[in-house]
Amino acid sequence: MDKNKGKNSDKGKEKGKMMEFTINLAKEAGRLVMENYGRIKTKERKADDSFVTNADKEAEALIISKIKERYPSHSILSEEAGGDKKISDHRWIIDPIDGTRNFIAQIPFFSVSIGLAKDNMPYLGVVYFPALDEIYYAEKGKGAYLNGKRIHVSDKGPKDGPVMAYGANLQKGTEWHMRKIPEFLKLTDRIRMLGCATTNLCFLAAGRFDAFVGRYGFIWDYAASLVIAGEAGARITDLNGQPYTIDTKDFVISNGKLHDELIKITRS
Ligand code: IPD
Ligand code: CA
Ligand code: CA
Repeated sequence: MDKNKGKNSDKGKEKGKMMEFTINLAKEAGRLVMENYGRIKTKERKADDSFVTNADKEAEALIISKIKERYPSHSILSEEAGGDKKISDHRWIIDPIDGTRNFIAQIPFFSVSIGLAKDNMPYLGVVYFPALDEIYYAEKGKGAYLNGKRIHVSDKGPKDGPVMAYGANLQKGTEWHMRKIPEFLKLTDRIRMLGCATTNLCFLAAGRFDAFVGRYGFIWDYAASLVIAGEAGARITDLNGQPYTIDTKDFVISNGKLHDELIKITRS
């Protein structure tokens, strides 16, 4: 008899519970965020020029306290609260509201993003868009889902009118964007900027976008949705076409059909 069989199935059960826990947590935080939609109490500008509201902080506090209670040995990195000094094998990577500017302006493209990295590579991700009531989730090797239905990237090629999402604050690296955007336009039919990193990756995972180029991101913007996009079949690299790491800040992500052409533009 396989002595490890019992142990392995316990592990499997715990993993299933972990996904259920993370989905419930993202939804609970999303409900809290929506209580503040159109009625935020505080709004401050941070050193990097972005905003933080009471909803970001309250959602973050809720998520962190529930993770600490359930997984006390896991470390946490979260946008507003920062990171634990000691990084454990399992690290939760949280963006309590991705797309805070959209949230403030009542543009419904914002999410609660909760990722879990193992040995520094994201392997579980849940992203909830409370104003759209769309929940995306994935675990490495198990496929990506939107509201319970399996999702896949599109199969549009350069001649099929592909739509590209662009993720960047144009104030930063303006000269690079102004040089590259006309090149991207030659390869795609339309370019969209929705102002929310997780929207770009999750919508690509669902086949709504066909390609994405993003610059100057943080790992909390991407951790969860990288798993979702990857499990939906996306090709994910840095600007030079190299595999991403936990430190990658600039991404090219696509359905695969446009990737090499995009890299020719981004690497030069
Ligand atoms: C920002 C948004 C934005 C992206 C920035 C992110 P935040 O996240 O996703 O679209 O261009 O890089 O930092 O500040 O709203 O969590
Ligand atoms: Ca973010
Ligand atoms: Ca944020």
